[in-house]
Amino acid sequence: MQKKTPIIIDCDPGIDDIAALLLARQIPHFDVKAITTVAGNVPLAFTTQNALQLLSFMDWDVPLARGAEGPLSRPLETAEDVHGKGGMCGLTLPAANRRPVDLPAWDLIYQIAKREGGKLEIVAVGPLTNIAVALAKYPDLTKLINRITIMGGAFLAGNTTPAAEFNIYVDPEAAKRIFTSGIPFYLCPLDVTHCGYITEEELREIGGFGSKESEFFRDILLKGMAMSIYSGGKGVPLHDPLALLFAADPSCFTFTGCFVGVETQGPVTRGKTVTDVYSDKKLDKNGFYVQTVNRDTFIGHIKNLMSRYTDERKS
Ligand code: RIB
Ligand code: CA
Repeated sequence: MQKKTPIIIDCDPGIDDIAALLLARQIPHFDVKAITTVAGNVPLAFTTQNALQLLSFMDWDVPLARGAEGPLSRPLETAEDVHGKGGMCGLTLPAANRRPVDLPAWDLIYQIAKREGGKLEIVAVGPLTNIAVALAKYPDLTKLINRITIMGGAFLAGNTTPAAEFNIYVDPEAAKRIFTSGIPFYLCPLDVTHCGYITEEELREIGGFGSKESEFFRDILLKGMAMSIYSGGKGVPLHDPLALLFAADPSCFTFTGCFVGVETQGPVTRGKTVTDVYSDKKLDKNGFYVQTVNRDTFIGHIKNLMSRYTDERKS
């Protein structure tokens, strides 16, 4: 029996965060210890409400802690133009039947990390503020997190600015704190998440699997079809699900260890991530850069995970 991996998912729901959470509940070897929310796509009140409603909808009994209302040292910039004012592009879920725990995200992260004795992994799919605050408050946390898988960054071109991807752009100082912390991190940049797209046909197939979760998975991602410009119009890039599935099973990806840096200054380059994978200047490796995905295999995993809701409802 494969040993389960203790996981915390830090997110800013958001269309693709919701898809990632729907998938996470069905990953058999993930022991999701907590969900933590951060301001990002929409303000914290909405990211938290969306997560609580989704967990209630999925009947998923996992603690949720609210995190940062904004970046470490900058005003919050959101992405309502993509995710809608409330973060679900106008879709609604039944009212939540639960509340956040009383601890803030960074305290819950530390509490669980200590309890798991260094085995804890974090999947971070929003701005990295919560993790940065946790590291600042608890310096020994660097020894208690096994690895962090991050949806973030862009080496070729950004989505929020020509240079920067949204999660890193919103809080580049937080990203720098994680990149220089010594904790092993795997960065899933736009360069690979744009290849990890799902087509409308595949979404409609999943929506026909017969569970309310697979129907909501289809509906929320169809709302993201406007993002398909990033994948040449072929489908919705599954930014957050890709990072989650890399953490679950990297076998349909390629990745390489390298130096990863982030620009925190400059009005044009703020949030730009850089790597020395192609440069002659070999800097000390501090992380991993996920480079490619086998899209067909990736989508096959997604279909398999979402089909588990149907099986669950039948049993
Ligand atoms: O740039 C894409 C990332 O920013 C995704 O995590 C999306 O949810 C937004 O947070
Ligand atoms: Ca996100």
